Amino acid sequence: MKEEYKKLIKEAERAKKKAYTPYSKFKVGAAVLCTDGKIFTGCNIENASFGLTVCAERVAIFKAISEGSTKFEAIAVISDTEKPCSPCGACRQVMSEFCEDAPLIMANSKGDVKIKKVKELLPEAFGKNDLLSGD
Ligand code: THU
Repeated sequence: MKEEYKKLIKEAERAKKKAYTPYSKFKVGAAVLCTDGKIFTGCNIENASFGLTVCAERVAIFKAISEGSTKFEAIAVISDTEKPCSPCGACRQVMSEFCEDAPLIMANSKGDVKIKKVKELLPEAFGKNDLLSGD
């Protein structure tokens, strides 16, 4: 595996420790590597009003976008799951907006890793072109 991917997994693991998960106790960390070389991390943040919970992947992506880093090389996600952590559907949709061709590095804390392109995980995603072709 590329060194930069190993680093990204480490950063995601570090971010996982910051997860705010009093309800599920399920901690997730994410990290995005931007084409400008910057790395942004995120963790899941839960809320007593459960539906307001935000996933780690979206926190990392939105941090990057809001700081002006809008092009992504790769994104990593990690949790203490049996198999490498697989992102939820909402996060796949958000990823497909910004990085459908980028490798998504799915990992767990035991060291298992699986890499797939975002578009493989959300084929035929709804996107900007669909929106523009509407009436
Ligand atoms: N979670 C993520 O952070 N990312 C995912 O892709 C799946 C789910 C979080 C949300 C919630 O805090 C906890 O995991 C349990 O669903």
